[in-house]
Amino acid sequence: MLVLGVETSCDDTAVALLRDGREILANVVSSQDHVHGPYGGVVPELASRQHSQNILPIIDAALQNAGVKFPEIGGIAVTYGPGLVGSLLVGLSLAKGLAFRWGIPYVGVNHLEAHLLAIQLEQTVQFPYIALLASGGHTLLYCVKDVGQYLFLGGTRDDAAGEAYDKVAKRLGLGFPGGPVIDRLAAKGRPDAFDFPRPMLDRPGFDFSFSGLKTAVSTVLRGRGEPPFDEAFVADVASSFQAAVVETLVAKSMRAVDHVRARALNLGGGVACNSALRIALADACARRDVELRIPSPRLCADNAGMIAFTGARRLSLGDRSGPELDAVASLEASGLTTA
Ligand code: KG4
Ligand code: ZN
Repeated sequence: MLVLGVETSCDDTAVALLRDGREILANVVSSQDHVHGPYGGVVPELASRQHSQNILPIIDAALQNAGVKFPEIGGIAVTYGPGLVGSLLVGLSLAKGLAFRWGIPYVGVNHLEAHLLAIQLEQTVQFPYIALLASGGHTLLYCVKDVGQYLFLGGTRDDAAGEAYDKVAKRLGLGFPGGPVIDRLAAKGRPDAFDFPRPMLDRPGFDFSFSGLKTAVSTVLRGRGEPPFDEAFVADVASSFQAAVVETLVAKSMRAVDHVRARALNLGGGVACNSALRIALADACARRDVELRIPSPRLCADNAGMIAFTGARRLSLGDRSGPELDAVASLEASGLTTA
């Protein structure tokens, strides 16, 4: 069966075509960074307007890329949450409309579950594994026991890791999104130039907190006026900030790995592209003889390939969503099956 995947939960408009539950024929992502950049973060109203302007041309582009025509599509998988409601509704309404028009089934997909399973598009995996999902909207640790069996271990109590990157970058005058540029600049600075906090490391459990770290960066900048700042100073702040984020993410992930004696750790979300995080996790995993699995960048960041993959499984099991399915801003982690 050919499944159309649609993802509009935040600021990326994404469409994918997946054949027989595995083969990605198209995986198109249209970024809105140029729209939100001037604001230093995602503006919900602008995001939904962009989605509604872009979604049909992107579906057309995906079909053309794949050389597929509408009647060949057998089902639709669409993100229904969590995310920005105005953005989610664009994709969800479109999916309902197309499913009705074409007389095919559609199924709503939990965006978090799709991130947890994305690795399976590229690798055959053994269960259980620990999944660290770190993006602009989420910082979560799960134990993935099987498809449909997700044990929530911990999450951020305030800002997501990517959000902290974006806010610190904004404060440093580095533009949006902040992750890639801080990642690059950090390599030129000293990770111990500033003694930023490693939040929640001294507490048991698997939760994170990044807002205090953001405040610590602001404190260092106090009295220095507005950007642009001295280049070496910015590199030092970036490097010290990144060292704190990475140490926290690595320590909690390893705590989770040890807790369930997992043999593999899986990354997801835009922050999984971070070079220092990858090196530190590779090192920590190697010391424990734990396999580190990182999907390719396209499958780490928000994309519709993972939505199509997760939805295709559901559709093949006969799962169907009806016209009453609504967009959900914050799907509880426990909304996934816990086991
Ligand atoms: O998963 P994603 O594409 O979608 C959203 O959550 O919207 O993640 C985007 C986030 C942004 O906050 C961005 O700054 C961060 O991922 N990011 C990074 C890197 N690349 C993207 N953070 C740290 N280092 C990177 N190399
Ligand atoms: Zn995401």
